[in-house]
Amino acid sequence: MRTQVAIIGAGPAGLLLAHLLHAQGVDAVVLENRTRDYVEGRVRAGVLEQITVNLMEKLGLNQRMRREGLVHTGTNLAIDGEIFRIDMEELTGGSTVMVYGQQEVMRDLFESAAERGIKIIFEAKDVQPHGVETARPYITWRQEGAEHRLDCDFIAGCDGYHGVARGAIPAHLLKTYERVYPFGWLGILADVPPANHELIYANHERGFALASMRSSTRSRYYVQCPVDENLDDWPDERFWDEVCLRLGPEVAPHVVRGPSFEKSIAPLRSFVSEPMRFGRLFLAGDAAHIVPPTGAKGMNLAVSDVIMLGEAFGDYFDSGSTAGIDHYSARALARVWKAERFSWWFTSITHQFPEMDGFARKMQVAELNYIRGSRAAQVTLAENYVGLPLQ
Ligand code: FAD
Ligand code: PHB
Repeated sequence: MRTQVAIIGAGPAGLLLAHLLHAQGVDAVVLENRTRDYVEGRVRAGVLEQITVNLMEKLGLNQRMRREGLVHTGTNLAIDGEIFRIDMEELTGGSTVMVYGQQEVMRDLFESAAERGIKIIFEAKDVQPHGVETARPYITWRQEGAEHRLDCDFIAGCDGYHGVARGAIPAHLLKTYERVYPFGWLGILADVPPANHELIYANHERGFALASMRSSTRSRYYVQCPVDENLDDWPDERFWDEVCLRLGPEVAPHVVRGPSFEKSIAPLRSFVSEPMRFGRLFLAGDAAHIVPPTGAKGMNLAVSDVIMLGEAFGDYFDSGSTAGIDHYSARALARVWKAERFSWWFTSITHQFPEMDGFARKMQVAELNYIRGSRAAQVTLAENYVGLPLQ
């Protein structure tokens, strides 16, 4: 088998790249080690930046998003129960975000991939990139007992944090930067109307809480918890009591309780691996970087990576120019680091840290009060939240 770009991983990065290449007439094959149902079923991101919405539109994948997605012009912060709003649209000169779950994005991507004849091989076991430093890279995998090989011009490693692609770069050439947070997010999904028509990020002395949603009838809530917390210790009633306490008395009466149908704990991590290219292997998305979810940036960064990578491959196959692929790592990392900074900062002012003393807590309160009272601070928050421009 032969293709131009072999893509490892059918998450948002891999599938969007496949669609981008298809639109430019570049041949690609996606290799995914799980089933389609598994990938589509993972409950993850909920907030899309304008660049992500624009890309879905450009690829002709936005019909359902236009009908079902919720445009949010603002977001809210709470400090010990007192809420204030950030009017993102006004502060940024017109930018907004879209609430549309990653699961929905994946469903749209898979459905249209099938219609467009984009090749995805599911349940590919032991996927391995080879010869990435040569002009003839290839991938091997196993399926139903048989060995397979795919020759290609380039390999795109879109296989997430736990994937194999990053490991194909010699360790001495990789520089990794990491911060592991001593807490996680306990999240639930429930078919109840959201407490508020926009998101609320709450700093409370008992810990962070987030009121989010998937639709006008489906809510997503999170509370900060220790990473080693046991889910069995969190029956729904305890969760609802805790989230109400942390969101505060203004919001709590509007929280509609109901049975959760998903409950899980996500660890928080900041991670960047540089460079994002080695020979003919290119990394994109979570394979190269992770942000804590506070800034809602993870999936959106995967999108900006693949927009840049799609352009670079497009140029190469169009004109033979290597300028785009040569510049890809530096260009992508410049935006990644800014999103890392924003996600780290937003986490640092909204969560309770074990080492925090009275002074550190006062600094958080002062910072949030400063944002509440300063247009300049609000502009900074808003322009990062809606997504910095692609450069
Ligand atoms: P992934 O989604 O991890 O996809 C990688 C794919 O590669 C997977 O399908 C995997 O099965 C496959 N794979 C792995 N290893 C192999 C292998 N060896 N061979 C073949 N295939 C392989 N982001 C936002 O932008 N906004 C948010 O609001 C937001 N909220 C989040 C909330 C939570 C609780 C979590 C956990 C994440 C959140 N994120 C958010 C982050 C976002 O979900 C990820 O950044 C995004 O999924 C990254 O996409 P990706 O395609 O790079 O990686
Ligand atoms: C979500 O709805 O899952 C969500 C929203 C905003 C975030 C993170 C997660 O910052």
